[in-house]
Parts: sequence; C-alpha cells; structure tokens
Amino acid sequence: MALLEATGIAKRFGGVTALDGVDFAVERGEVMALVGDNGAGKSTLIKVLAGAHLPDRGEVRMRGEPLELRSPQDAWKAGIATIFQELALAGKMNVQDNIFLGREPCRRVLGIPFLQRRAMRREAERLLASLEVEIRDTRLPVENLSGGQRQGIAIARALHIDADLIIMDEPTAALAVAEVRKVFAFVRSLREQGKAVILISHNIQDVFEISDRITVLRQGRIEGVCTTTATDPSAIVGLITGAGHASSRRGPEHASLPAQP
Ligand SMILES: Nc1ncnc2c1ncn2[C@@H]1O[C@H](COP(=O)(O)OP(=O)(O)OP(=O)(O)O)[C@@H](O)[C@H]1O
Ligand SMILES: [Mg+2]
Repeated sequence: MALLEATGIAKRFGGVTALDGVDFAVERGEVMALVGDNGAGKSTLIKVLAGAHLPDRGEVRMRGEPLELRSPQDAWKAGIATIFQELALAGKMNVQDNIFLGREPCRRVLGIPFLQRRAMRREAERLLASLEVEIRDTRLPVENLSGGQRQGIAIARALHIDADLIIMDEPTAALAVAEVRKVFAFVRSLREQGKAVILISHNIQDVFEISDRITVLRQGRIEGVCTTTATDPSAIVGLITGAGHASSRRGPEHASLPAQP
C-alpha cells in the first residue's frame, strides 16, 4: 500500500484547468520528483496534498485512509509537511516563531497557556544547527535573511512537524551550490529514516541526482511516472515538453476533438 495515494484530482481556477484527473502515489522511503513546465500544475497538486487548496474532484489517501484536507492543520495531523514555493514565512515574525507557527509549545499555568519561549529558542537553534543553517539570532525577523536562510527555516519547520511525508516545492531554486548540498543531505537523511519526500524541481540534473522516481505533469495531466535509474534526462525533457508525442494535446489536428469524459 502506498504511503500517499491521490486519485482523480481535478482543480480549476475560473477558466483554467490546473489539474485534470491526476493520479499520483508516493511510497515510504522514496524520493519522488515532480517535474513539469511552468503552469503544469505542480504547485496546485501539492497544495491539494497540503490542505491549502480544496480539489474540485478526487480523493487523497494516507496509509489507505481517506483524508479530509480542509486546512494545512489537517495535513499536519495526517503527517504531511509542506515547504511551499513561496515559503510562506511571516516576514515580520522572528525565526523561532516562524518555525513553530501555529504549533507553539505551551505550558498551562492555572489553565492559562504560556508560550515556552526559552524552549522554543533552544529547539529552533537545535533544528537549525542540525541543518547547518547559520543564523546569528533566532529572535531576528526573517524578512532580513537570505534565501538560503529562509529555506533553512522552512525546512526546520517541516522537521519540527516530524511528518511521514515532506513536500518541497522548488527548495533549491534560490540557493547557492553549498546550500543545495545541504538540502540534498537533508532529503537523503529523511529517506534513510523511511520517510517519503516529494520534491518539485526544474533542475533535471538535481532530479536525477536525488530522486528514486519521477512523475511528469503536463498541462494538468500525468504524462509519465519513471524509475530514475531506468530513464534519462532527455526522455524526461521529452515528457515535460510533450515532444515525441504523435498525439500532442496541443496539436492542431486534435484541437476540435471533444474533451475526454
Ligand atoms: N490561485 C490561483 N488562481 C488562479 N489560477 C491559478 C492559481 N494557482 C494556479 N493557477 C493556474 O493554474 C495553473 C497551474 O499552476 P501551478 O502553480 O500549479 O503551476 P506549476 O507547475 O507549479 O508552475 P511553476 O513551475 O511555474 O511553479 C497555471 O495556469 C496557473 O496560472
Ligand atoms: Mg509552482
């Protein structure tokens, strides 16, 4: 049984069909790359899995159990942590508050919850150190930090959730080479712990370095699912662009065909 299985996921935004009946599955201990052109629907798919978008149709199961994903909290409870493309950090808030956002450790005194600020700071420093992210003071607001530092904070937040499935949307796009290595080391350590990772990337070389399988989305549909060691970059690029498709959906010869039921 797959750790996560999404079936028949459809999502429209007004006149735009972002996802059109997507079936997608991830196994335990696997790094699944999700690739596709700009606008292929990658972020929309993972936002459905993260509880950030409600799909128009389709079902998501985790360990065989159907999920009600109506909010990011629902996804966290099911063991799904997502690092969004936009990172979704609160710029004015400091580093440690961003790591614990919505899940702050509290101690109740006479029934009144008190934030455990010192515990939060220690835990934030521990998580960042484990990722080799250097931040001078976790009480600084995140808006002044670099892209790599922000990425580290977003990853630390996912680590803190202790999820079974970690989804990363373009985690390395804004990073220097040394920081990309750190993210990859983190992804490998998650895999070694038996966790599953979904990694969205436009960098085909990176995808081949880190993934076990590759799912290709094109125009809101699954174009292919490949075992990384059994394919090659040019085949994946061909799937992404739809080249080599005798029946490319964009082809004028098919433009007047009725839509698939
Ligand atoms: N909130 C939204 N409102 C309206 N349209 C949207 C919204 N989110 C996505 N779309 C549209 O849905 C389609 C899929 O977008 P999505 O962000 O999922 O693509 P993507 O594969 O992540 O692309 P990229 O590689 O550029 O990040 C696009 O046509 C996009 O314009
Ligand atoms: Mg995207």
